[in-house]
Amino acid sequence: MKKIIIAIDGYSSTGKSTVAKQLADYLGYIYVDTGAMYRAITLYAMQKGYISENHFDKKSLVNDLQNIQITFKLNSKTGKNEVYLNGKNVEKQIRTLEVSKFVSPIATISEVRKKLVEQQQELGKEKGIVMDGRDIGTVVFPNAELKIFMTASLETRAKRRYKELVDTGEKISYKDIVDNVKERDFIDTTREDSPLKKAKDAIEIDNSNLNREDQFYTILQLAQDRIAGRI
Ligand code: DC
Repeated sequence: MKKIIIAIDGYSSTGKSTVAKQLADYLGYIYVDTGAMYRAITLYAMQKGYISENHFDKKSLVNDLQNIQITFKLNSKTGKNEVYLNGKNVEKQIRTLEVSKFVSPIATISEVRKKLVEQQQELGKEKGIVMDGRDIGTVVFPNAELKIFMTASLETRAKRRYKELVDTGEKISYKDIVDNVKERDFIDTTREDSPLKKAKDAIEIDNSNLNREDQFYTILQLAQDRIAGRI
């Protein structure tokens, strides 16, 4: 059967990864969470002291990029691909609010983007892939057969993020989450290199009032139309 590329872009906490994973599982495709790759580089920069509250040494990070290796490995228990930084599983460490605070500035660096975009294009060479991020339909795979652009109200997104972090035991306030989501939206949409924007041929889905199941079946139908060549 024909294999396609499904590109899912959108704002933070719009549920991109949930639906991307559902689609990949259903279609037997590979799922790649590109945000995890930017987060892993951010964690590395934090560990090396290149970025902290009042300090951002871009140059040292860029000079060190060749020493950063990001890979994915399937966790057979959860069925989820987990991200590894230089051979170490960092799936949990990259989801903290601290990493979320620094990831958008790190993602503005062109050299970082170039390295990750090349790796992402390589992963999608054989098609049969669902990739989520901010620039997948515009930069990574401008010829993807299906492009989805996900949005949801700020309140819906902040509540989702808050629940996720509280569930993992992190002590945070709801206001910190709202501030972080707002700030990331601002940086992600206004940066010079590959800002988040809807590709001309992307289909916009606002899921503020859509449940997970309806959203999944809506996008699956769009994917199946393309796989069957109906569109
Ligand atoms: O999807 P996420 O929230 O885990 O992404 C974390 C950050 O990484 C996001 O705020 C912007 C950046 N990012 C990016 O610039 N390009 C991508 N393709 C994916 C993420």
